[in-house]
Formats: sequence, C-alpha cells, structure tokens
Amino acid sequence: GVDLSGRNFLKLLDYSTDEILYLIDLAAELKAMKKAGEAHDWLHGKNVVLLFEKTSTRTRCSFEVGAMDLGMGVTYLDPKSSQMGKKESIEDTARVLGRMYDGIEYRGFAQSIVEDLAANAGVPVWNGLTTEFHPTQMIADMLTVREHTGKLAGNKLTFMGDAGNNVGNSLMVVCAKLGIDFCACGPAEQMPDAALVEQCREIAAENGCTITLTEDLDEGLAGTTVVYTDIWVSMGESADLWGERIKLLSPYQVNAAAMAKAAPNAIFMHCLPSFHDLNTTTAVEVNEKFGIAEMEVTDEVFESEKSVVFDEAENRMHSIKAVMYATLK
Ligand code: CP
Ligand code: NVA
Repeated sequence: GVDLSGRNFLKLLDYSTDEILYLIDLAAELKAMKKAGEAHDWLHGKNVVLLFEKTSTRTRCSFEVGAMDLGMGVTYLDPKSSQMGKKESIEDTARVLGRMYDGIEYRGFAQSIVEDLAANAGVPVWNGLTTEFHPTQMIADMLTVREHTGKLAGNKLTFMGDAGNNVGNSLMVVCAKLGIDFCACGPAEQMPDAALVEQCREIAAENGCTITLTEDLDEGLAGTTVVYTDIWVSMGESADLWGERIKLLSPYQVNAAAMAKAAPNAIFMHCLPSFHDLNTTTAVEVNEKFGIAEMEVTDEVFESEKSVVFDEAENRMHSIKAVMYATLK
C-alpha cells in the first residue's frame, strides 16, 4: 500500500501514479465524511503553519479549514508579517518553524525556495503555489475531472492560453502521470519549458498518453473533454505585461466558439481567481487601460452548465486536507 507519512509535497514529479491516485481517493473519502457530518479530527495535538508571500483565498482557507477539521492548530503568516526573506534566511526560518510545527505550507516565488524550506525544516513542507508549480491544485482538479467525467485516463485536457505558467506546467505533469492526453494550446511564446515538456513526454509514454503543444485552436480542442484556462498575468508578474499578453492570448480566450470545437460533453475548468467578472478592481484597471471586454474566459462560458469551477474550488479543501493527513499521520 501507499504510505506518504513524513513526505514533502513540493511537485508532482516527485510522486508516482499510485501515490497521486491514493491522494485523489483519500480526498474523495474525506469529502464524503465531511458531507455525512462524520468527524475526522485524527490529527488532534498537531499544529501547522501557513507561510504566504503571495495573496490567496482558496489555498489559505483550504489549509485552515482542512487543519481545523483534522483537529489541528493553525497559524497564518501573511506576506508582510514574518521575518522570512527580509531579516531571516529561508534556511533559518525553516529550522525555527520546524521546531514548533508539525507541517509547513509555503506559497510564494521560486520553486527553489520551497525546496530549500523542505531541505531544512525536518517536518513535511507543502507547496501552496510557486512560480513554477501548483501541485495541491492538481489533486483537486483531478478529483473534479473524475467526478464529472467518471474517469481520469481516457480524457483529453486542453489548457488554453498561458500554458507555461504554474498551473499549465502542473497540469502537464499530472496528466502525464495519470494517462490523460494533455494539450497546451497557445502562442509559442507562452509554452511550458522545453526540458519539462521532454520529461513529461517520457512519463506520458509510460502511461499511454500524449503531450501536444499547438498554436492551432482546431487541433488543440478536437476531442477535448476538459477545457482549462487560467489568468493571463500571474501573481508576481509585472502588471506591465497585460498589453502584450492580451495581444498574444486573446485568440485563445475560452468562449462559446472555443467550447463548440471541443467534445460535446466537455467540461470547463479554471483554478480561479478568474477575470470573467470585470467588476473586480484589477479587471477594471486592465479594462480601462486596454479597453478589452472579456479576458481568458467569457462570462457566458464561466456561468454555463459546462462550468465546474465551484466544485473545483470546493475540492481544494478536501484535497489539501488529504495531503496534510497523508503526510502527517
Ligand atoms: N486557485 C488558487 O490557488 O486560488 P487562491 O489564489 O485564491 O489560493
Ligand atoms: N497562475 C495563477 C494561479 C493562481 C491560483 C497565478 O500564479 O497567479
């Protein structure tokens, strides 16, 4: 059987297919228990710390509710209120927090930071999003895919737009591990790193699936059962990039015409937050500057029956709880 106790959760390249499936199954079990009102405070007496160098709604709340449901204490450190990276090194921060807590979540910048934390903490470290990867999102996403399509392998997932971002990279990895055909559909400039593509192609070959990169919408969406997109400028990137990204990525907007190119039963997914709601302050600023009406997904698709984005958001909590339980038990 799979035993993940004591393990870090930094990127899915470190996890086997069986281990990833185990986490998805565990998330489904914990979700069923939560719905049935069955207590699962199995980690009573343990404490975790959440270290955020970027903002968050879903990930932070998922770690907090997940920890509380498991009976744990939880400390949240916001982007400004710790010494880390300013007065204190990553290594020293890790060694201090590792003496006090049973597990550490990190959201922030380079993947090397979370790897560095893990190397020095002496307790499990979980990646809550870095510039390169967003692995907890993947457990939630794959649970959502399975709930809505009834399977994992046998699907084709197409990521539209900024395919080389943390979510695009992570989807490519998890699809390769799980036998899902993955397609990055976007401009050549925004594709995942070539070395990572190569690595994922090798993994995909072992699992009977393919990795395709294309600029062509028809090729990208033919037979697609899961259409996925993400915001065009990620956290930590300069707001000056909006003009260039709008120009590059507008052809890859997920709108009704794009959905019509996919399989008839295709679902729409988005990690959120999304720019479909142009009343948010960031969207208003971008809109005023560039006069663009809609961005990575239209309101029509976002609000359609094909959209499973709020199941996906809810599943963040069940799957993050699964990651904490599996590694701390
Ligand atoms: N999807 C996701 O990670 O959302 P937050 O940035 O709100 O945590
Ligand atoms: N690519 C986005 C994902 C947010 C959950 C970002 O990094 O901002």
